[in-house]
Amino acid sequence: MTSEPIADIRGFLAEQEQKTLLRFLTCGSVDDGKSTLIGRLLFDTKLIFEDQLAALESASRKHGTLGDDIDLALLVDGLEAEREQGITIDVAYRFFSTPKRKFIVADTPGHEQYTRNMATGASTADLAVVLIDARKGVLKQTRRHAFIASLLGIRHVVVAVNKIDLIDDQQAAFARISADFAAFAGDLGFATIMPIPMSARYGDNVSTRSQALGWYDGPTLLEHLETVPVGEDLAQKPFRLPVQYVNRPNLDFRGFCGTIASGTVRQGDAVAVAKSGKTSTVRRIVTQDGDLAQAGAGQAVTLVLEDEVEVSRGNMLVAPDHRPVVADQFQANLVWFAEAPMIPGRTYILRTETDQAPATITALKHRVDVNSFAQEAAKHLDLNEVGVVNVSAQAPFAFDPYGENRVTGAFVLIDRMTNATVGAGMIAHELRRASNVHWQAMDVNKSARAELKHQKPVVLWFTGLSGSGKSTIANMLEKRLFAEGRHTYTLDGDNVRHGLNRDLGFTEDDRVENIRRVGEVSKLMVDAGMIVLVSFISPFIAERRMARELLEDGEFVEVFVDTPFEECARRDPKGLYAKALRGEITNFTGVDSPYEQPETPEIHLQALGRSVEDLTDEVEAWLKARGYC
Ligand code: ADX
Repeated sequence: MTSEPIADIRGFLAEQEQKTLLRFLTCGSVDDGKSTLIGRLLFDTKLIFEDQLAALESASRKHGTLGDDIDLALLVDGLEAEREQGITIDVAYRFFSTPKRKFIVADTPGHEQYTRNMATGASTADLAVVLIDARKGVLKQTRRHAFIASLLGIRHVVVAVNKIDLIDDQQAAFARISADFAAFAGDLGFATIMPIPMSARYGDNVSTRSQALGWYDGPTLLEHLETVPVGEDLAQKPFRLPVQYVNRPNLDFRGFCGTIASGTVRQGDAVAVAKSGKTSTVRRIVTQDGDLAQAGAGQAVTLVLEDEVEVSRGNMLVAPDHRPVVADQFQANLVWFAEAPMIPGRTYILRTETDQAPATITALKHRVDVNSFAQEAAKHLDLNEVGVVNVSAQAPFAFDPYGENRVTGAFVLIDRMTNATVGAGMIAHELRRASNVHWQAMDVNKSARAELKHQKPVVLWFTGLSGSGKSTIANMLEKRLFAEGRHTYTLDGDNVRHGLNRDLGFTEDDRVENIRRVGEVSKLMVDAGMIVLVSFISPFIAERRMARELLEDGEFVEVFVDTPFEECARRDPKGLYAKALRGEITNFTGVDSPYEQPETPEIHLQALGRSVEDLTDEVEAWLKARGYC
C-alpha cells in the first residue's frame, strides 16, 4: 500500500520537471491594472500549488516513507536557472507554477519605463498580455505595445479587457474592444489573439470563472496561459554558443563557457568559430553536474575542443554547416527608450548576448507611426519611438537575423556617458556595402608624408562657446606655426558651414552630423601629415569623443577655450547673443542649447582677462614640450 503515494510523489516531481514553460509579459497603459493582475495570478496560483503540495506532503508523512525532508523547493530551482538567460536588464522576473505548466512573467515596475522594460525583458517571451481598461478601449499605448510585441517576435497576444466590472453594457464593450484590437493587429502577424473580459481586482476570469460575467464562455486567463502552444523550439535551430568567457585554470584545460542559445551539441560534433571560420571537434561538454554526452538550448556549459583554436569572449561556437552572419554593418528595427533622442552619427555601445563594440547609427531609414504603422521620414528617434536604422559597428559581430533567432539577433544600445540602456534592436539583415569595400594600403602613407614635412601630424581641437576666442587663438597659433615652416590647415565652423556643411543648421541632430563630418575630415588631414586646427563650438562630449576615437593616441589634442558665458555675451562679435536672448534665433549655444564642458581636455585655457598672445603662448608651449613642433 505504501508504494502508491511514493510513486505519486515521484511521479509528481517528474511531472514538474517535464512541465512546459511559458514566458510572458504584461503591457498596457498606466493604471490599466498590470500590477493587480500579476499580483492576482501569483496569489491564486500559489494557493493552487500549495494545495497540491500540502496534499502530497501529508500523504508522504502519513505513510512515513520519505519523511518530512522532501525538498519541494527543488521544484522552483529549475525556474531560477532561467533567470540567467536572455538579455535581461532591470527587469524582475516572477516565477509561478500550476499543475499543468511553469510560468515566468517579466515584471516591469515603473510606469514611464514600459517600452524600455518591454523591449529588454521580452526577447524570449512567448506571449504578451495587453491590458486594456474597458472604460477607455484601445489607446495609442495599446497599439504601440502590440506593435513592439510583434517586432519582438512574440507570437501570442491576450487582450485583457480589464475593469469590466466598472461598465454597464459589458458584452457590447467587450465585443467592440476585441474588434478594434483585431482590426489593427491583423497585420502584425500574431499566431493567436485571445480577448478575455476580466476584473483583475476581484479575480474574475483570471484564474477562476466569473459568475458576474456569465455571458462570456471562453477560457479564463490562466486556462489560456496553460494551454497556448509554447514558443519556438530553440533546440531544433542551428547550434549557437555565444562565449561568455574562456576558462583556463591551468595549461592543460581550456574551456569555452556560455549558455547555449539554440540547437544541441554532442560530444564528437564538429563546431566552427563564428568569426574566424576555424573548425574543431567537441572533446568534452563540462557542466556543474559533470560531463554530458549532449546539451541543448538553455543549458550553461563549458566546451572543451580537440584543437587549440582562438575563441575569445563575444565570439560564438556554431554548427559548421549553418553559420551565422559575420558583419559590421546591418539593418535593424530599433526601439528607443531614452529621454535623450537617438541621433544618427552619434556613437553608442552595441551589446549582444556576449559581445560588444562601439557602433553608430549611420542612417535612420524611417520612423514607424504607431497609430497607422506608416513609415515616416525622421531625423531622430524620441522616447518610445520605433524605427528602422542602419548600424555600423567598429568591429564585426556574429549574429543571425532576429526572425531566425531571437537570442543571437538581438542587441541593446548603451549610452557611453551614463551607461544606461537606451535602445533595443532586432537585426533584420546584413548590409553588404561594408564587406565589399576594403581599405586600400597606399605605399605613400601617413608616416612617409609626415616625415617629408618634418612634423608630427595632430588635430588641435578648439572647443568652447561662440565668441570664446577659439578662432582668434587658432588663427594666431597657425600664423606662428606657418612662419616656422609647418604644414597646417584650419577648419573653422563658420567657414566649413559655407561649403561641406552648408546643409546643416543648429539642431542637436545637425550639430552631431556637423562634428562627425569635421572629425572625418580632420582624420584625412592627419593622414595627409598635416597639423590641423579645428575651431568648432562642438558642444557635445559624445561627438568630441567620437572625433578623438577616429585618431590614434596622441593625435588628438582637445583645447577647451574656457570663457564664461557672460563674457562671450558681452563681446558678442556677431550680434548673435543679443538676438538669441531676444528670442529671435533659436538653438543658440549657452542660451537654449546646451554646452557640455570637457572633463579632461589636454589643454584647459582659463581665458578670462588674458590676452590672445598669452593664451596662444600656452598652447604653443604645450605642443613644444611634447615635440609636436
Ligand atoms: S557647432 O555647435 O555645430 O559646433 P559651429 O562651430 O559649427 O557650431 O558653428 C558655430 C557658429 O555658427 C557660431 O560661431 C556662430 O557664428 C554661428 N551660429 C549661428 N547660429 C548659431 C546657433 N544657434 N548656435 C551657435 N552658433 C550659431
